[in-house]
Amino acid sequence: MISTAPATPTEPAFTVENFDVKDEDLPAFRDMEFEDINELELDHPGASDEEYRTRRDYIAGLAKDFRETGKITDVEYNEDEQSIWRHVATRLEELHQNHASPFYLKAKKDLGFSNDRIPQLSEMNRRLKELTGFRLAPIEGLVETRGFLSWLSYRTMLSTQYIRHHSRPEYTPEPDIVHEAIGHIPMFTNPNFADFSQFIGHGARIATNDQLEELGRLYWFTVEYGMVEHEGDIKAYGAGLLSSYGELENAFTANVERRPFSLERVINTSYDYSDMQPVLYVIPSYAELKEVTRTYIKSFAKI
Ligand SMILES: [Fe+2]
Repeated sequence: MISTAPATPTEPAFTVENFDVKDEDLPAFRDMEFEDINELELDHPGASDEEYRTRRDYIAGLAKDFRETGKITDVEYNEDEQSIWRHVATRLEELHQNHASPFYLKAKKDLGFSNDRIPQLSEMNRRLKELTGFRLAPIEGLVETRGFLSWLSYRTMLSTQYIRHHSRPEYTPEPDIVHEAIGHIPMFTNPNFADFSQFIGHGARIATNDQLEELGRLYWFTVEYGMVEHEGDIKAYGAGLLSSYGELENAFTANVERRPFSLERVINTSYDYSDMQPVLYVIPSYAELKEVTRTYIKSFAKI
């Protein structure tokens, strides 16, 4: 067994294979430290919509409150927001039936997912805790890599609650509740995937800057854009694919080269997040991904 060195004196050390992270193992959320949390960017479709900006900032403010109270505040989504959800969720549902991994399809059902209304982080958090001990913590925007990934070591995913702008229902330049709830959150019901995510989190806490860049690539080509073999077929499990109908359709065309997963290759492949992905990697199983990642992360620190 190896353990990670505590990053701060108040942070309890626990072993890299402690999959049973208790509430008392968590650092206080109010001590979350980030170099950077993105505000709404100028190229955002809602950048010049004053009403949208106010609403987004209000919902983002609830995430700041969470850091003081540790309680997730449910958002009373309005009818416009619900209709964006219904449109995107319904359109994706059809594509998921053909292209999503069977595990994802089951997870969506298990989470009690509805295309009719936006799910609350609080209810999904309760369900994940029962299934794999994963947690969700509200956050007000995109966070820099080390800060975001490090929380995965506590089996905690930081998640936005606001929704994209109505003018571009198919697109968002920043994470939003569609991307989180449809793309990311169901996958944490898979125990191997949850453990794999936690390994990445441990890695981020102890990585050098170069190793962190490699981890970012591993995260990108798995958690965001991963594909998995299934009974001689290929299915999608990455959040960036499952939450975007353009990306998901494109991923299964001749535009994309689908390569067998190789850790060495993935951590040395750079990516462009501003365009459709030309190369994707296919893992044989989540269990194998977990084992490869375990060995890789252990090589980071001889402690
Ligand atoms: Fe994401």
